[in-house]
Amino acid sequence: MKAIMLTIFNYLQSIIMLSYRHAFHAGNHADVLKHYVLGLVLAHIIQKSAPYWYVDTHAGAGLYSLTEGYAAQNAEFEQGIEKLMFAESLPTALAEFVTQIKSFNANTLAFYPGSPLVAQQYLRADDKMRLFELHPNDNKLLLENFKRQGRQVKIELQDGFAGLKAMLPPPTRRAVVLIDPPYEDKQDYQRVVKTIKESLARFATGTYIVWYPLLQRPEPNEMIDSLMDLNAPNWLHIAMTIEEPSAEGFGMFGSGLFIINPPWTLPKTLEETMPTLTKLLALDETAEYVLESHIS
Ligand SMILES: C[S@@+](CC[C@H](N)C(=O)[O-])C[C@H]1O[C@@H](n2cnc3c(N)ncnc32)[C@H](O)[C@@H]1O
Repeated sequence: MKAIMLTIFNYLQSIIMLSYRHAFHAGNHADVLKHYVLGLVLAHIIQKSAPYWYVDTHAGAGLYSLTEGYAAQNAEFEQGIEKLMFAESLPTALAEFVTQIKSFNANTLAFYPGSPLVAQQYLRADDKMRLFELHPNDNKLLLENFKRQGRQVKIELQDGFAGLKAMLPPPTRRAVVLIDPPYEDKQDYQRVVKTIKESLARFATGTYIVWYPLLQRPEPNEMIDSLMDLNAPNWLHIAMTIEEPSAEGFGMFGSGLFIINPPWTLPKTLEETMPTLTKLLALDETAEYVLESHIS
């Protein structure tokens, strides 16, 4: 009986997992916040010459077409990256992010990079990337997008939470880890906390970036509280609301990132640039950001 229940559970889990395709959301406000901050973290880590590892536990497909397929259906990028592409007088850090996105495009916005391709821009000859993507189709696309990279980039069709645990600490003792699950399965919130706890026990000095959605349900806030309760000495929390939560109680009204061991420069850069980013992505007058950090 227990074995049958387990099989049914695993089957339902795989249906939940397979229903999420990041392409539907490519380039939306949450991607913009996540990839902008990811770039800031990586730009800081490459200021030192010692090699590092970039680990993406939930990597997605790597690159998304915005003119056809899933991303074009809901066109979420129109309320995300598109608003930055033609903005004038951007603060330097945001302007650099836009320049990066432009480098994937010719004259019009047709492609948007996922986190692995954003990270690839900061990869030097001795650095390594380890990417986990469990969806077979997105894994295939990811392999295709990195086919010229050779052994520097390793792509696994494997659970990213388990994969991360197995590789810590990295041989270089320097790493940036992005944990970006779909959260379609509520268990993801607890898995993130457990993974961070175990990862810090194995590799306390790594930089861990956790992305999460702002939703009208308790799990996201509970997860952030649990992450803070881990008492990591250095952390930063940035959350951006782009609109008032809906009256029906559904939908993502913003997103956030909790970063353990962030660059010491990050609070200042975000203080200087988040007002502009929030204003550009705002859908109504309630849009705001919250920035809190503890860096010893
Ligand atoms: C939010 S998307 C990732 C987006 C990507 N990090 C980016 O910023 O471009 C989450 C991805 O995780 C994949 N996924 C879901 N569960 C997973 C797991 N346990 N391990 C690895 N990948 C998983 C999904 O198929 C999906 O492509």
